[in-house]
Amino acid sequence: MSRRIIIFDTTLRDGEQCPGASLTPPEKLEIAKQLARLGVDVIEAGFPIASPGDAQAVKRIAQTVKGPTIAALARSLPADIDAAAAALAPAKRKRIHVFLATSPIHRKYKLRKAQAEILRQAVWAVTYAKRYTEDVEFSPEDASRTEPEFLSRVLEAVIKAGATTVNIPDTVGFAIPDQFGQLIEGIVAQVPNIDRAAVSVHCHNDLGLAVPNSLAAIAHGATQVECTINGIGERAGNASLEEIVMTLKIRKDFYGVETGIETTQIAKTSRLVSTLTGIIVQPNKAIVGGNAFRHESGIHQDGILKHRATYEIMRSQDIGLGASQLVLGKLSGRHAFAKRLAALGFRLSNTELDRAFRRFKDLADKKKEVFDEDLAAIVEDELPAAHEVYKLLYLYIASGSGTVPTATVRLSKEGKVLEDAASGDGPVDACCKAINRLIGLSPELVSYSVTSVTKGKEALGEATITLRHRGIEVSGRGASTDVIEASAKAYVNAINKLISTSTRRSDLKRRHVLHP
Ligand code: KIV
Ligand code: ZN
Repeated sequence: MSRRIIIFDTTLRDGEQCPGASLTPPEKLEIAKQLARLGVDVIEAGFPIASPGDAQAVKRIAQTVKGPTIAALARSLPADIDAAAAALAPAKRKRIHVFLATSPIHRKYKLRKAQAEILRQAVWAVTYAKRYTEDVEFSPEDASRTEPEFLSRVLEAVIKAGATTVNIPDTVGFAIPDQFGQLIEGIVAQVPNIDRAAVSVHCHNDLGLAVPNSLAAIAHGATQVECTINGIGERAGNASLEEIVMTLKIRKDFYGVETGIETTQIAKTSRLVSTLTGIIVQPNKAIVGGNAFRHESGIHQDGILKHRATYEIMRSQDIGLGASQLVLGKLSGRHAFAKRLAALGFRLSNTELDRAFRRFKDLADKKKEVFDEDLAAIVEDELPAAHEVYKLLYLYIASGSGTVPTATVRLSKEGKVLEDAASGDGPVDACCKAINRLIGLSPELVSYSVTSVTKGKEALGEATITLRHRGIEVSGRGASTDVIEASAKAYVNAINKLISTSTRRSDLKRRHVLHP
């Protein structure tokens, strides 16, 4: 039987450290539920000491999500470990993940501690965490820049203290595959008690090598890999889950290992994470990019028609992207609509279903042909309602060559209806200015983009807007067949996130200090 690699997903912890990717607790729960459907073995749900919001999110995930082990991060300090244990308490299977930097540069400048002190603190942290759970992971932060001999001593000591997983992070993305593979092979061969722990890796993508480094580690004996959906994370991100999993699947001949991932859930998970974080997936991204299964060259198209395997090593269906099917039209009923959504993996309450069905009917009137991607966009557009303070009710735009674009916007706020108008450099600018007047804020527009969900001139447009206000960066999304309306929705969605993040502002301040 082939070796089973443990998939440890850290989208909700390291992934959320991606600038602008701040998620609310309900959004985290939504993603965690989808990660469970995807079949990850471990969900690292957050860093509870960092903020009450993070602690609350970990707790709700621990209460609700069944199947995967739920992990929480903690520095090697009592308050951190206590907070992680408290947040994880309701979980059936829980893991405390403690970390402490071991590299010379971190010891000297960040921690100002000698090797002996680091060793003592690491052992203490694992022993302390073991009071709460059998399942304890230890990470020597910046392991790839740590002296191998000292690293081995730390690993041996923490395993002796009870660590059941030892994780080797390439914290700054410095490693290169041959060297990193050798490091893992050395650890597996030389740490005397290594057979008592799972050997994990956690790679960052600063040199674009997070996935190759993770794969090299697996080839040399690692049994757990830490990764994120769409590769999101601090700076250039973490190793991408979908790239690792699909490489292991497609090249099983080489790696000879398997994972428990249900790969047909990959596309949906990628889309959900992108929608809720507002981090767009680049079109040429491997596996989940919009172009990943598109063939443009005539020679390739001809080859594919003659034999698919001439130019395709995997099928879009393998990651859950049915060949864009025509699913429903304007005469389709609520029952057919609900059935199709269930087949796509969406579980909606009756109220949510009613709202989504109304949106579908509007869209079917405009668009005639409604595809799976359109349905996903409609449903996901309805999802962020959990932190909805403002809602877009009405939008009127006057624009054209030779006129000053003007927008009239009506919003609702806690049952009250607010209306104002503004002019701007273009219709979208006018909309944003009118919204700013209504909410009494002028956040900085960091980025704005519009993409189409499916092909054709009546396609749904999806707008993504990133805003910054008083050091907080958030992204919002909106979908509509009218790109100005999609933009206004995205703007309101980002404003709502800004408000909910601002209310946790003092927590966020702490978190910026604490995050590894
Ligand atoms: O990159 C890193 O070193 C980390 C650790 C906390 C595992 O994220
Ligand atoms: Zn990391």
